[in-house]
Amino acid sequence: MKIIAHRGASGYAPENTLSAFELAMKMGSKAFEFDVHLTKDKQLVVHHDYDLKRTAGSPAKISGLDYAELKKINVGNKFGFPVERIPLLEEVVDLISPKAEWINFEIKNDGGAYPGIEEALLGFIRSRPALSAKSLFSSFDYTTLKKLRVLDKHIALGYLGHNLRAVFLLPAIMRARAVKAVNFHIALRLASRLNVALLRKAGFKVCVYTVNEKAAALQIQKMGVSGIFSNYPDILSKEKK
Ligand code: G3P
Ligand code: MG
Repeated sequence: MKIIAHRGASGYAPENTLSAFELAMKMGSKAFEFDVHLTKDKQLVVHHDYDLKRTAGSPAKISGLDYAELKKINVGNKFGFPVERIPLLEEVVDLISPKAEWINFEIKNDGGAYPGIEEALLGFIRSRPALSAKSLFSSFDYTTLKKLRVLDKHIALGYLGHNLRAVFLLPAIMRARAVKAVNFHIALRLASRLNVALLRKAGFKVCVYTVNEKAAALQIQKMGVSGIFSNYPDILSKEKK
């Protein structure tokens, strides 16, 4: 079971910053997840929210700023880190590539917030041939997954269900199949033995987010999932259960 550094080692360093990814690498992570957005001047950047309220106390939206403006904002005032910037996607990829065996690009594009983000991301991936084989693309926005599949027959896709409930698992499986997703990512509350078995039987690799308790990680491991997204890359070696 892969332990996927969720937004980097975000339990110890400001999420989705170069420091968080650097720390995850130091902790031995080989699998990484981060969230991709597009600035006003069409630069791919890594951040979780669409705006900077939570990470910087600023109401600014990523879509409303050029990268030159965005990079002036401090999103790192946490865990004793004084200053951190929103990184460009290429900075994150350049940093983690030597160690990364598996990279999950989660595209934030609810309601088509970032027209052209799919082309921009595929353009970036194609500019780095070694990257495709270890990359997986997921999104809560189904239109984004459909578009990625139209643009590229071969890339690996991961289905992410928005507010998915167990009763909706079958329709979600149909949708995931329709875009030829190889992975199916589910929230921890849905990670029952039955649901995981159903998804595995349907042919998907299952990953669960976000698992931050060792006891939960050990329980899920027994279900045969392919990975867990955790803010704590050391979750399995932690003393506390
Ligand atoms: O990609 C897994 C997980 O990160 C999805 O939820 O909100 O943490 O991006 P979120
Ligand atoms: Mg994410």
